[in-house]
Amino acid sequence: MNKLQVSMRGQNVIASPIRKFLPLMRAAEERGTRVYKLNVGDPDLVPPPKFFETIKKYNPASLGYAPSPGIKAHTEAWIKYYRQFGVDLAAADIIPTVGCAEAIMLALQAVADIGDEVLVFEPLYTSYKSFSVMTGIKLVPVLLPIENNFALPDAKIIEKKITKKTKAIVVINPDNPTGKLWSDKELSTIIKIAKKHNLFIISDETYREIRFDSKKPVCLLSHKDAPQNVVVCDSVSKRFSMPGARIGCVVSCNKAIMQSILKFAQARLSAGTLEQLGLVPLLQHSKRYTDQITREYHRRRDVVAQGLSKIPAVFKPAQGAFYQAVGLPVDDAEEFVKFMIGKFTYKGATVMVTPMRDFYISQGKGKNEIRIAYVLNTKDLKQAMDVLARGVEEYNR
Ligand SMILES: Cc1ncc(COP(=O)(O)O)c(C=O)c1O
Repeated sequence: MNKLQVSMRGQNVIASPIRKFLPLMRAAEERGTRVYKLNVGDPDLVPPPKFFETIKKYNPASLGYAPSPGIKAHTEAWIKYYRQFGVDLAAADIIPTVGCAEAIMLALQAVADIGDEVLVFEPLYTSYKSFSVMTGIKLVPVLLPIENNFALPDAKIIEKKITKKTKAIVVINPDNPTGKLWSDKELSTIIKIAKKHNLFIISDETYREIRFDSKKPVCLLSHKDAPQNVVVCDSVSKRFSMPGARIGCVVSCNKAIMQSILKFAQARLSAGTLEQLGLVPLLQHSKRYTDQITREYHRRRDVVAQGLSKIPAVFKPAQGAFYQAVGLPVDDAEEFVKFMIGKFTYKGATVMVTPMRDFYISQGKGKNEIRIAYVLNTKDLKQAMDVLARGVEEYNR
């Protein structure tokens, strides 16, 4: 007889490494400890008020489904938004999604089947690991060591990982969790490999504008050699500080890919109607807001780097997104985080960061690494970095 049991997928999928310390954190707060939370990439910045103003004005008789390919005004606003990065899109090239998370799921399922392989670079934004279990697509990691500041290895090393089953390469630019910006040379290498082996590139550009090198943000679709191979996964979550809106999009000039994604999208009906409407003016005039938050994250990046310079830590200041990956002088970052939340306080406060072990697919990597998400104002961040430095000293005593 059949047993009533959870699927293998359900059993194998990992819990969010970011959220697994929450019970310890709550206990610390109940003890009266102030916890500086640098663990979740949930922006603290005020989103553009235009979003709420627009939604308030909308007063329909009923709240219907949006069309699966997106509300016309919303997709047109994305098209205008992309033009500033040299990307000219037709309406059929873009479908709004429920955050970048859904865009990635749709893209993965359009480029690969169960048992196929997708190359990723580790450390890796952990949701990809869950998506791999959910879709039955195998992730094949290429290691980017922290000691090399996450630089891309030689093309030959990447090509060695390609098999008959490989269908795509994932690039996250700017990257979570490393804060890496991909150089033009690195992107060209990936495009060359993709073209040579007929692979898709899933380009996760959630943090596109948040880069600290004063260069123009890049969309891989603008690369002259790339378009047919590229599927961009995008989001408003970080760009407009509104992950709660749950809006992103999937974009490709490859018609066959977009036709498949549209059929998937029809099955899940649509992204939110109100949120699509509220985002129209933001997408039409994004630069002022994104310039402003990039300056703020840049200041925070400098505060974090300054704080870390007091610890014998392995790191180079992040180049983009709002994360700093750090090799700490501790034996085990998970134990260190438990110590910080469970026991340690300095001036009544402690710090919550994310251990990076779960950001790796290969066993045994990242044992002493943490990720800092700088989602606090510079004053609190400075204090948090002091607490972190004291915590490292105390942990090693
Ligand atoms: C690299 C990356 N991709 C995708 C996502 C998911 O974004 P969304 O909130 O749009 O689903 C995140 C969220 O942190 C991310 O860091």
